[in-house]
Amino acid sequence: MTEKRVTFASKIGIVAAAAGSAVGLGNIWRFPSQTADSGGALFILVYIGCILFFGIPLMMSEFIIGRGSRANSAGAFHKLAPGTQWKWVGRLGVLTGFVIMGFYMVVCGWTLDYMFQSLTGNLHKVTDYTANFNSLIGNPLRQTGWMILFTMLSSFFIISGVKKGIEQSSKIMMPILFLLLIILALRSLFLEGSSAGLLFLFRPDPTHLKPTLFLDAMGQAFFSLSIGMGCMITYGSYFNKNTNLTQTALQVSFLDSLVAILAGIIIFPSAFALTNNPDVITQELVAGGPGLLFITLPELFNQMPLSFFWGSLFFCLLALAALTSTISLMEVVTLYIHEEYHLPRKKSTLLVTVGVILLGIGSSFSSDFFNLMDLASAKVMLPLGGLFISLFVGWYLDRRLVIAQVTNEGSVKLGVTFLKVYIFLLRYIAPLAILAIFIYGLVG
Ligand code: PFF
Repeated sequence: MTEKRVTFASKIGIVAAAAGSAVGLGNIWRFPSQTADSGGALFILVYIGCILFFGIPLMMSEFIIGRGSRANSAGAFHKLAPGTQWKWVGRLGVLTGFVIMGFYMVVCGWTLDYMFQSLTGNLHKVTDYTANFNSLIGNPLRQTGWMILFTMLSSFFIISGVKKGIEQSSKIMMPILFLLLIILALRSLFLEGSSAGLLFLFRPDPTHLKPTLFLDAMGQAFFSLSIGMGCMITYGSYFNKNTNLTQTALQVSFLDSLVAILAGIIIFPSAFALTNNPDVITQELVAGGPGLLFITLPELFNQMPLSFFWGSLFFCLLALAALTSTISLMEVVTLYIHEEYHLPRKKSTLLVTVGVILLGIGSSFSSDFFNLMDLASAKVMLPLGGLFISLFVGWYLDRRLVIAQVTNEGSVKLGVTFLKVYIFLLRYIAPLAILAIFIYGLVG
């Protein structure tokens, strides 16, 4: 199976594909809603700390495992640690992928619905955007229809030669999305009354401190960077031998965080500017967390000339950004079934598609089920995956293999201090901090 393994073609394609996986609804939908729930700037500070101290080292570790084994996320542990129980870490990742898709596809469905509403011009005639969003989430059949469509779209890419599809589409789409986010952020900043939103976003308020803040921020960091479930192991297995793992992890994490912050700069200043009652805005933001993107943004578009154009463009790009993430999620599970159970790629994709649709139906019909999938994956499964991956690379894996991977057999010059810091973070800081945050978050 592995001898047929293809690699991504170009350096830029590698970053685009990995960033395509990382940048998605996690940045534009989940990050603002988590920030609102957790009281703004304080959440962002902790979030950035999580990216620096665990996110980047863990992403590098997943790349090491992936390229060092050239196998799917579970097969990678078989190969690097034969005859041990580490294989369960890979299997946990596959399960996590399933669970994430079980609710993520529903939100992807919302983006398709909004794309359709904007393209038909209906979104721009709406007078009450909250009611408009509520009517969507109150209609399970409508959500199911869009969710199934999105899942089938993702499987189509998985079946028809992923690597070309992912690499090419990411290369074109990511820069356009980025440019559009900058335009929207500028528009939002120039709205009258937007400064309160900026303060909410960037001035930490200690009264917002709550016990779950750290776990929320860590879960969001893992979710957003697509780490802790083998996604970057799978993509790392497609890297070529010259890919600079450190540089790629830094670039992807930087782009991913930038998109999240830009999404915050779009949503919060406009949410504050567009509301009539600044006193209750924070409560409204918290209550409307998950819907922020679908309520605030259409309202923002309507304040702009050519609102039809901006709305349609935004929701099309959002759907595409979501697609490059669902493709990566699906690829993890499909490749696992394909390589471990020796089923043809088409059959494996079909199995995954059916499984995801069933979970998606559960999430469309029950918001409790939806929230359970979201919480279980981000707050339990991803941190656990991250913990074991850091232990595996920090303690189990042969140090020579780790160094050979990070330095590309010596051709990438990295300072000894850098390598020491990296190993230290992986051996001590990441596992201890993840464990502490995990336990404190659950019992706190
Ligand atoms: N990182 C993606 C996002 O932020 O939308 C979601 C995701 C993709 C999570 C792949 C996990 C994953 F393995």
